[in-house]
Amino acid sequence: MSSPPLTIRPVRPDDAPALRQMREEAGWDLDKVPAWIAASLAGERPTWVAALDGATVGMVSIELIDPDPEVANGEDVAVVASLSVLMSAARRGIGRTLTVFAEEQARARGVRVLTLNTRPTNAAALALYEGLGYRRWKQQERSWGLAVFLRKTLAQG
Ligand SMILES: CC(C)(COP(=O)(O)OP(=O)(O)OC[C@H]1O[C@@H](n2cnc3c(N)ncnc32)[C@H](O)[C@@H]1OP(=O)(O)O)[C@@H](O)C(=O)NCCC(=O)NCCS
Repeated sequence: MSSPPLTIRPVRPDDAPALRQMREEAGWDLDKVPAWIAASLAGERPTWVAALDGATVGMVSIELIDPDPEVANGEDVAVVASLSVLMSAARRGIGRTLTVFAEEQARARGVRVLTLNTRPTNAAALALYEGLGYRRWKQQERSWGLAVFLRKTLAQG
């Protein structure tokens, strides 16, 4: 069976409805979507989307700086953030593909260590991240609640 082609491209303003739907399905706030699109277009906090047959079905961002320098330091440590895939496109490898894509983009920007964080109860995300070699290293309160942090040293190639 052949799968429909998946493309990954930088986010555009007309992706906003799909991004809001992803965040709504995940139970996340929607108010950051316009600011994130603007930041990505300005070359800050880059965001990419996955499109399946032309429809936007997933997103991922890289955050280069965080108040905690162990999480992102503006140099060689950065965060893979806001990974989400529409429920209608789940379990087709899109989340994994977006994470690997973000790793390649981060490496090209000189990042050596990537970090991630999610709720300790998010079994799907933890399985995805641990399957890609990320390892848990701490828990910390964030604005949205308790987060488990994972990290991985990128292979230099
Ligand atoms: C987590 C999420 C991004 C996974 O996206 P996806 O495209 O469905 O995931 P993939 O198909 O790439 O799955 C990769 C691996 O993740 C794990 N996984 C994904 N969904 C899972 C689920 N519902 N239950 C258990 N494991 C799951 C599996 O290990 C899977 O590998 P396998 O299919 O070979 O078993 C998606 O469920 C989502 O958007 N959830 C809401 C937002 C969120 O929690 N984001 C991440 C936390 S910051």
